[in-house]
Amino acid sequence: MRSKVTIVGAGQTGGAMARELAPKGFADIVLLDVVEGIPQGKALDISQAGPIIGFDSHITGSNDWRDTTGSDIVVITSGKPRLPGMSRDDLVTANTEIVKAVTEQAVKYSPNAIIIVFVNPLDVMCYVVKKVSGFPRERVFGQSGVLDAARFRSFIARELDVSMEDVQAYVLGGHGDDMVPLVRHTTVCGIPISELMPVDRIAVLVERTRKGGGEIVNLLKTGSAYYAPAAATIQMVESVLLDRKRVLPCSVYLEGEFGVSGIFMGVPVKLGARGVEQIIEIKLTDEERDMFERSAESVREVTKVTGL
Ligand code: LAC
Repeated sequence: MRSKVTIVGAGQTGGAMARELAPKGFADIVLLDVVEGIPQGKALDISQAGPIIGFDSHITGSNDWRDTTGSDIVVITSGKPRLPGMSRDDLVTANTEIVKAVTEQAVKYSPNAIIIVFVNPLDVMCYVVKKVSGFPRERVFGQSGVLDAARFRSFIARELDVSMEDVQAYVLGGHGDDMVPLVRHTTVCGIPISELMPVDRIAVLVERTRKGGGEIVNLLKTGSAYYAPAAATIQMVESVLLDRKRVLPCSVYLEGEFGVSGIFMGVPVKLGARGVEQIIEIKLTDEERDMFERSAESVREVTKVTGL
């Protein structure tokens, strides 16, 4: 039997996620939006790729929360994207209201679901979902680090002209311009990049990664990235539904890990059938710890704005 995944928000991001998930074949999908016609149209369009790509997943477009009943995973994408000149934090007030309302419905119709958040400001929106749902921290987490690390990996792969898959990297901290790419743990098949690239080039790629979301916003002008975010989120969905126990950087509620409590931050976690099954604490150098704490401070400040 296939699992059931609801994707809330049928915009560019929600649509790209459904298109990414459908061919995996292990989940039926409900694409939900308040706008009439868009989720239904996108669902039909994706379904009609089934005979060509070769998948049987059912994709339902809907404006009715009742269709989401009993979902195993609810992915929340609904919220305003940023526009050129905006930081992710500028969205906090508008998106808090949207995410609160969506969470109430998600909990009502799928009380046992795992909720994966992809709305900015990311770490703060995860906090809103956790507070409003009352779910344990194992069942609420956000996608950010997989995307940020993928950006860093892609820049390194291009620069060294090696396969993207062979570059391993971790990006921790909040999903903001002060995120923490862990250069020390960035390798090409186990070889530290410091042995393959001069320090000043690494610094350029770190900076490009930190501003990676903004680079795309400035190019698109009407919204933010969605293809790589969709791929990142569906990697997390797969790890949960197939109980793969992938170790991925995700935004999770910290209770003392990495010296931080009471906010969401990106850290390495093991994702399996129970959601966040383990937070993997790694020792940070003094410099990394300073960056992590600076990032935590920004997340804490914006979290306060929600008043929750
Ligand atoms: C990004 C967004 C969507 O980093 O946060 O592209």
